[in-house]
Amino acid sequence: MRHNRLASALSAVAIVAAGAGSAAAQDSKQDTVKIGLVMPMTGTLGPAGQEAVAGAKLYMAQHGDTVAGKKIELIVRDDGTVPDVGKRLAQELIVNDKVQFLGAGTTPTALSMAPIVTEGKVPGVIMISGTSVATERSPYYVRTTFTLGQQSGIIADWATKNGSKKAVMVMSDWAPGAEAAKVFEASFTKGGGQVLDTIKVPLANPDFAPYLQRARDLQPDTLFVFVPASQAGVFARQFAERGLDKSGIKLVGPGDIVDDNDLPASGDALLGVVTAGFYSADHQSAMNKKYVADYAAATGGKRANFISVGGWDGMHLIYEALKKTNGNTNLDAVMAAMKGMSWESPRGPVSIDPQTRDIVQNVYIRKVEKKADGQPWAVEFATFEAVKDPLHPATN
Ligand code: PHB
Repeated sequence: MRHNRLASALSAVAIVAAGAGSAAAQDSKQDTVKIGLVMPMTGTLGPAGQEAVAGAKLYMAQHGDTVAGKKIELIVRDDGTVPDVGKRLAQELIVNDKVQFLGAGTTPTALSMAPIVTEGKVPGVIMISGTSVATERSPYYVRTTFTLGQQSGIIADWATKNGSKKAVMVMSDWAPGAEAAKVFEASFTKGGGQVLDTIKVPLANPDFAPYLQRARDLQPDTLFVFVPASQAGVFARQFAERGLDKSGIKLVGPGDIVDDNDLPASGDALLGVVTAGFYSADHQSAMNKKYVADYAAATGGKRANFISVGGWDGMHLIYEALKKTNGNTNLDAVMAAMKGMSWESPRGPVSIDPQTRDIVQNVYIRKVEKKADGQPWAVEFATFEAVKDPLHPATN
């Protein structure tokens, strides 16, 4: 049994290598560039996959489907939020569809398909995962999203500078939550604060109420919370139902807890909450105003959120790399084009760190306020420029 599994794993790698070889040989002759996205379109993180794909498709709608003389074909595969399925889909996209680029989604699948990206010698653009370690799992991964660490240290500093002394951390129990908590605790403690407890909430179908009660019973002055995209709405409701919005305990976190997708329906529950995030639909720039308007028009009125810009910027990175290489999809040429690239995103200025292949971007401190339209928005009031991920060994 064990031998069989090993044998099939080895032949799978061989198939990938052969497929990539022939795809590379055809590079210069091909008129079409295929981009395969492996996304959770269904399952626990289904909404995140749908948002990233909506962002990617919007980019193509705005910029056309031809770049450097090549026709761009987007292929979307649903991993169902199951990492093993994502790994198989990535392999099929390379071997059967002969894609020249892969797009990776949430952390568990981004990690499971990393060896396929490496063996297949295909550039992989991370369009959701916010876990620092993901980009280190393949030399061909480049991230256009964010890391939790990028935001969590900054909000910890803000909290201690604004009077927080005792915090409880409530976090979704998987890799990005662990990183958010690790970086928050380090900075909060350095700033003179104390973390009373870390409360872990299961990722799938979470019921936050009992965990919030436990947190409240510890009588902190500050609650640091990480919940992933698509769970901020449920969280906000249960937070208000428990009366925590009126308890005097300060709620802080990375941008995920005030996800623009969920803010419009959150009523007053999150008013006054301060977060450190890289994207707000309220970001004041001409490019973002157009992005938010076009996204709403393309999605039946949804508010653009932080996950969607990862997909939009992922496509931008691929388009601009192809422009630089004159349509050549050779791995080394594409990687060289991507490393160090900088551009204006709807979130503000961004670049790709040539050393870590991770995104460098502004992190904004934002407060949820009701604006003239009567809806809550995360309003930016301070900017930390060109922030790198704090957890990469190369950054420290
Ligand atoms: C991730 O896959 O790492 C991820 C997804 C959604 C989030 C944060 C992190 O909100």
